[in-house]
Amino acid sequence: MASLAVNVDHVATLREARKINYPDPVIAAAAAELAGADGVVVHLREDRRHIQDRDVYLLRQTVQTKLILEMAATDEMTKIALEIIPDLVTLVPEKRQEITTEGGLDIINNRDRIAETIDTLKQAGVPVSLFLNPSLKHVELAKSLGADKIEIHTGIFCEAESPMQQSAAMSDIIDAAKLAKEMGLGVNAGHGICYKNIKAFKGIKEIDEFSIGHSIVSRSIMVGMENAVREMIRLIESL
Ligand code: PXP
Repeated sequence: MASLAVNVDHVATLREARKINYPDPVIAAAAAELAGADGVVVHLREDRRHIQDRDVYLLRQTVQTKLILEMAATDEMTKIALEIIPDLVTLVPEKRQEITTEGGLDIINNRDRIAETIDTLKQAGVPVSLFLNPSLKHVELAKSLGADKIEIHTGIFCEAESPMQQSAAMSDIIDAAKLAKEMGLGVNAGHGICYKNIKAFKGIKEIDEFSIGHSIVSRSIMVGMENAVREMIRLIESL
């Protein structure tokens, strides 16, 4: 069965809407773990729009499962990662104006910077995953740059507007996941996954872990974080 890493960024989004000290993503992370989450994910963005440095440092002390840091391949973020030593770093692209991460890394044009960041982190004992669009070329390049894992960007599937687009996007995901596994890479998947569309991932045994944030945090407002996480785990169990 695939594991579940819960992204608590949007607990911080709610806090930052008022610039006060609640709700606290650190407490949300503990609740997610109590409900059975296998990991906690945070994206420390350059503009600090949701997660703050304080959250990441505290989570490093409190998370009992594993802490996954999503970050851009910048010197500032690499320095923080080297202080924190997360259990995994997922390198993601970042644009200031975007509402959320819009696509996978451009590992062709940013190859040198990504290779250098992977190398620095791995020398410090931090495994590295690359957030990629489901493309075979990108999977091969990720392997050659020394990544340990890939995270397949599932947003293209989740946002597809027709069954035809959905099925094309899903077959790209499956092909990328299979190739990554054949090459010895770990396979995570995330972005846009919710309680409804997760059922479409049934039978894709290559996916080791789902990284899910917005849908779980949204449901947690209605039913509490522990219930929201348990419901998602039950759905993953049935895949
Ligand atoms: N994986 C990556 C790399 C992301 O950037 C995000 C969004 O922060 C997620 C997973 C989670 O996406 P969502 O919030 O849509 O579940």
